[in-house]
Order: sequence, then structure tokens, then C-alpha cells
Amino acid sequence: MDSCGIVGGVVNTVSVKQGLSFADPELESHASGVLVAVEQRLHRAVNSADPLVAEAARQLLDAGGKRYRPLLVILSSQFGEPAQERVVDAAAVVELTHLATLYHDDVMDEADLRRGAPSANSRWGNSLAILVGDYLFARAAEIAADLGTAAVRLQAQTFARLVHGQIAETIGPRDADPIEHHLRVLAEKTGSLISTSSRLGGMVSGVTDRQVDALSEYGEMFGIAFQLSDDLLDIASDAAQSGKTPGTDLREGVPTLPVLYALADEDASPDAVRLREILSKGPVTDDALHAEALSLLRDSAALKRARQTVHGYADRAREALTVLPDMPARKALNALCDAVADRTA
Ligand code: IPE
Ligand code: IPE
Ligand code: MG
Ligand code: MG
Repeated sequence: MDSCGIVGGVVNTVSVKQGLSFADPELESHASGVLVAVEQRLHRAVNSADPLVAEAARQLLDAGGKRYRPLLVILSSQFGEPAQERVVDAAAVVELTHLATLYHDDVMDEADLRRGAPSANSRWGNSLAILVGDYLFARAAEIAADLGTAAVRLQAQTFARLVHGQIAETIGPRDADPIEHHLRVLAEKTGSLISTSSRLGGMVSGVTDRQVDALSEYGEMFGIAFQLSDDLLDIASDAAQSGKTPGTDLREGVPTLPVLYALADEDASPDAVRLREILSKGPVTDDALHAEALSLLRDSAALKRARQTVHGYADRAREALTVLPDMPARKALNALCDAVADRTA
């Protein structure tokens, strides 16, 4: 597929499947053009003299993806005076960092499918998937160096925060409240890089410190809503919609907000009691029990409550934008909140 084709698909995915309306054709056409350049930059960055490394590193890039993080860089850059080359580099840094974490995450979660294609770990084994993730992270750092010390520091701090989130999720809440712990994990593992995407977009285009902070806060809140909605999709959608195997978190025993709400809830209805009984035993690996738990969760009050929590974070993201000038990019960032709050794919 040529890069225009990929980006055409991405923009189509964002504007049609995610329900994002740019409302401003000029901004949409500008963002599409920059995304084409980002795609080219990404392909250059993942190349390697070793054909196997090149193939494994390209695997996820070619498999698709929504490019939300590059899009956030581009939209956030609109509040300043964007120099296209720096915006493209910033977008490549965040997407490469994201790709690196996906390779590692699929090893940790033993996921077979990613972006609708076999995951790298399922194709080449864990060791290669981990090393390719490291390779992509290194490529991201190299591009960040072109953007200057502040960008390198931000990327390193972001990755450290993201890794803390993955570690905290792996270790579990220990003595902490499980729901509070979980929301902190989401902020660290996902809010971190999404916040950095909008922050970096502002930074490379020279917006004021106050606006950079507002963009960061937007990304943090949007990122938490985004991860929560992703976790809801794991329960509510089928593989054709999400490109991942439904119920993976449940099978692996990765706690998600609806599951934590279901476990904490005191609802005495037979369905709620049965759901707590299945979930309280940890990972649900038995196929029949897994299907039963998924079906109970899909109809549960816990799932509804988790949806309300997503809406709460989306509202906080919108609130952060109020200090920014009311221009088409702000409308598009607002529209992303609407899309994530009611995400079905
Ligand atoms: C997947 O992120 C991991 C999460 C943080 C939920 P995305 O949903 O942005 O994945 P791609 O890039 O579109 O594949
Ligand atoms: C992915 O988290 C977050 C990072 C890659 C840091 P998840 O494990 O919840 O996301 P999916 O469902 O695999 O995309
Ligand atoms: Mg995962
Ligand atoms: Mg994970």
C-alpha cells in the first residue's frame, strides 16, 4: 500500500468509523497532508538493513492503526505557528513510542491479534517482539533528538511514566483501593503518551506555556477516556470491530473498570451475584465461563457505570480546552471527545 493509501484509510477511519467531524474542510485537508508526510517519516524510521528486523518493525505500521497520537500532535500544533517538518517529527516520535509499547504490551498480555493482524509475538515469538519494541523506541529517541533537549526529556519522562503504569498494572493494587489504583494505572500507561502528543504539538509550534499546559491536561483526560473506552470495547465489541480478540482482558485476568465496578457492587440480583462469583476467581480461562461472564458483563449495571465514567473524563478534557482560542482545531479536539465517549470501534 502506498503512503497516501494508508493515510487515506486512516483519515477515513478517524472521520467515519470514529465519528470525528473536522467541521472545517481546510483543517481536514491540512491534517491529511501532514499525516501523509508522517507516514513517510514512520516508514523511513522503521527501516533496517536486516530484512527480518525491517519486516518485524514494519509489521504493526502496515497493519493499520488509528494514528490518534499523530493527529493530536497536528491538531495541537495549530494553536501556534507550526513548522511542518517539526510537527511531522513530533508525530513520528509519539507514534513510534506507541508502536514500541504495543509490541511489549502484546507480549505481556499474550495477545494473538493486533490491528486486525497476527501480533509480532505470535508470529516471531516473545524475544523478537521485545527486541523490535526496543528498536522502535530507540528510533523514536533519535528523532526526538532532532527536536531538541526538551523533547528528548519529555519523551524519556513519558516512557518512564508509561512503564510505571504497566508495572503498577502488573503488580496490582496491593493495599490500595482497586478502583483508584486502576484509574491511576490508566493515567500512567495511556494518559501519559496521549498527553505528551498534544503537549509536543503545542511545544514544537511555540504556543504559550499556559496553552501547552492546557493541551497536556486535555491529552491526559482524553487519554484516560480513550483507554477506558478501549477496555469497554474489549467487552462490548466483536473482533471484526476492534481488530483484537474480544474478552482478552477477562481471559488474562487484566482488571478493567467494568469488572472492578461489578466486583465492588452490592447488587443482589441473580445475574450480578453470578457475575461476581465468576469474576472473583481471577482470570476466566474456561471457554463456557468466559462466554457467560462476557454476556453478563455486557448487560450489567457495572458496564453502564463505566460508560458514565468515560463521559466524565471526556467532559474534563473538553473543559481543559476552554483556555484555548476557539478555532477549528479546538472544535476538532472537542469532536474527538464526542467520538471517544461513544466509541463503537
Ligand atoms: C491501543 O491504542 C492501546 C491503548 C492505549 C488503548 P490505540 O487504540 O491508539 O491503537 P492503534 O494505534 O489504533 O492500533
Ligand atoms: C495498552 O494497554 C497500553 C499500552 C500499550 C501502554 P492494554 O493492554 O489495555 O491495551 P490493548 O487492549 O492491548 O490495546
Ligand atoms: Mg494489551
Ligand atoms: Mg496491557
